[in-house]
Amino acid sequence: MNDSLKTIEDLFTPSTESVAGLIEEFQNEIRRGLNEDNSSIAMHPSYVSRPTGREAGEFVALDVGGSNVRATVVELAGDGMVRVRRHAAFRLSRIDGEAADLFDPIAEFIGGVLEEGRSYDLGFTFAFPTDQAAVNQGRLTKWTKEFAFRGVEGNDVAALLTQSIARKAETVTALQSVSVTALANDTVGVLATGAYSDARCDLGLIVGTGTNMAVAVDRRLVGRSLPPTVGNPDEMLFNMECGNFDGVRSIQTPYDRTLDTESDSEGQLLEKMVSGRYLGEIVRLVVTGLGSDGNGFSDWSGPNSVFRLPYGFTTEHLSDIAYDESDELAGTGMLLKRLGVGTSEPDERRLFKKICQLVAGRSARMVAMSIAATTTYIDPRLESQHVIAVDGSLFRGYPGYQLEAQAGLQEMLGNSSIEQAQVSYVRDGSGIGAAIIAAVAGAGFP
Ligand code: BGC
Repeated sequence: MNDSLKTIEDLFTPSTESVAGLIEEFQNEIRRGLNEDNSSIAMHPSYVSRPTGREAGEFVALDVGGSNVRATVVELAGDGMVRVRRHAAFRLSRIDGEAADLFDPIAEFIGGVLEEGRSYDLGFTFAFPTDQAAVNQGRLTKWTKEFAFRGVEGNDVAALLTQSIARKAETVTALQSVSVTALANDTVGVLATGAYSDARCDLGLIVGTGTNMAVAVDRRLVGRSLPPTVGNPDEMLFNMECGNFDGVRSIQTPYDRTLDTESDSEGQLLEKMVSGRYLGEIVRLVVTGLGSDGNGFSDWSGPNSVFRLPYGFTTEHLSDIAYDESDELAGTGMLLKRLGVGTSEPDERRLFKKICQLVAGRSARMVAMSIAATTTYIDPRLESQHVIAVDGSLFRGYPGYQLEAQAGLQEMLGNSSIEQAQVSYVRDGSGIGAAIIAAVAGAGFP
């Protein structure tokens, strides 16, 4: 069993040199993306700048994420302060169907949080890659996170939402005076939320069901001509879509390759190593792989076991295991029983926990790699302070994740520079950001 552990450890712990190589390749891809050359980091312009913090008014924010939909009525106080007036959320019960199966229930749900007889500007954050033509238009380039609603790829998602709102407004009268005034990626929303209260914030990061980053770029660094930015004309927020970074092919394990081959989402190689949608599945593939080699976990794939089913073992289970700090891992044993593994030996459970830690640890290190590469791209000597606003269930909820990401940053940026890149968690950043972007889009730049 020790031999298997050593092999797995080596596979999931890329050397410092290979991580340095990834940082370099990541930066090359950012450069190519900004110049509109073929790149696995698309750098989609969002046509909006950071807010000033002085934007004010009441807006509706709609946040369509990887697992949840949230609608929030947000009051921006104009001094960097945000007040949430109403908030509601629901969990998406399906990830495929027709476009209307996604957007009609969302429209109806928005109606439930609005007051009758008022008109609202709605900011829409959408947690999927869109190629934007303006601040309120964007075509979905491809589904990620295994989503598969038909009739959405290639179409303008703000228009699809507007059509559903119009359909539902016939019966839900509160929807009659809602207009979709801004569309943004969820990472752009997080960045806007961070920047609304702290002008040093120039990066937004999501580590949840999916993963991605957004960055504020001085327009002089952009090697292609783009229409004007709404807000500050000298900068542009870019949705990087760096979950699609394919430089990590060089550190893929056989398990990552199997996961990718069996996935419905094309590409997204970094995301498949980092995000909550996939970590449980990687662990499952390691466990079943070792079991079939006779190296432990021999009886873990019995008829009732979740380890038989793709995606049966989830990242939430991974979190539960990380919380179990007892010597014999009795809590893990009980969880395994619930998951259909009749008996497990303490040694097997220890190896299992170690695998979970390695998979989660690599994820945090790859997040650190993405932050280190992006901050040093926009500021190579880290002369200014950068605040990275972060949202997402994995970052928030996985025990020890934030510390591991911080340790990774220390490894990559060094002790002398680490103070220049501060990671700051912002709760509901993507949703609130939709309101802030709607405000920037409505107000322009004073
Ligand atoms: C999507 C991104 C999104 C990220 C985080 C990825 O799957 O491609 O657009 O920002 O998930 O939600």
